[in-house]
Amino acid sequence: MNKQLDQIAEHFRDARRIVALTGAGASAESGIPTFRDALTGLWARFRPEELATPEAFAAHPDRVTQWYESRRQGVLACQPNQGHSVLAAMEEWAESSGRHFSMVTQNVDGLHQRAGSRNVLELHGSLLRWRGCESGNTVQLPKKAQTEFPIRSVSGEMLRPDVVWFGEALPETVFSAALQATAQADVFLTIGTSSVVYPAAGLIDIALEAGAVTIEINPEETPFSGRVDHALALSSGRCLQGIFDRL
Ligand code: OAD
Repeated sequence: MNKQLDQIAEHFRDARRIVALTGAGASAESGIPTFRDALTGLWARFRPEELATPEAFAAHPDRVTQWYESRRQGVLACQPNQGHSVLAAMEEWAESSGRHFSMVTQNVDGLHQRAGSRNVLELHGSLLRWRGCESGNTVQLPKKAQTEFPIRSVSGEMLRPDVVWFGEALPETVFSAALQATAQADVFLTIGTSSVVYPAAGLIDIALEAGAVTIEINPEETPFSGRVDHALALSSGRCLQGIFDRL
């Protein structure tokens, strides 16, 4: 494994453009359940697909916003983990040495930004941002837990989380920036994602086609484990630290 980490660090040093794509596994060590962990507690009787859709919101705006608010409170109570901090340090290392580093995430927990990452492309939006259902205006909710559902703005407009629901398109400018960065990447890391949800998982295909050095960090196999240059069956924090210590 050390030899592999040495090789990967060499690829980082040779690279001009580096892209990291994260999924829920990158936040697992912060105590945030991965997307496919069974929902727990009062939400155990639902599947995410029954809550994270425009139809569910239209039918039960109170239930859906209560679930997202409970997730928002959960995220606010968590801290970025070693993996988040190393990815922010990698961005700093890259940018200060004339390289470019793009932090692309499927996660909606805002932990990359809290760890210090600056150039974060949130493919699936953010739990920490809410928006008016009619106006589309972004609203920053106060940190304190909301208790009235559905949540409304001061003007009475119903609010929804600024996240991508099943069946909704990804934010266009964000996704095209991620596509462009991936197509030009010399090194592409995919960290903590089951790589089964498109179009986000399609970025890995694009990195492979573009000839980037591809590195997967995931304790479990994914559909890409046999296709990437380096499949590291390790947890994200320890593995990313191992690479960074060699830069
Ligand atoms: P998943 O829950 O599908 O996958 C999480 C992955 O993280 C799994 O492959 C785990 O093996 C891996 N994992 C767990 N702990 C880890 C650790 N400590 N270090 C590294 N990897 C670890 O979550 P995602 O792949 O992010 O989309 O799911 C992708 C999308 O599916 C989500 O963004 C969501 C969902 O539909 C939307 O909400 C639009």
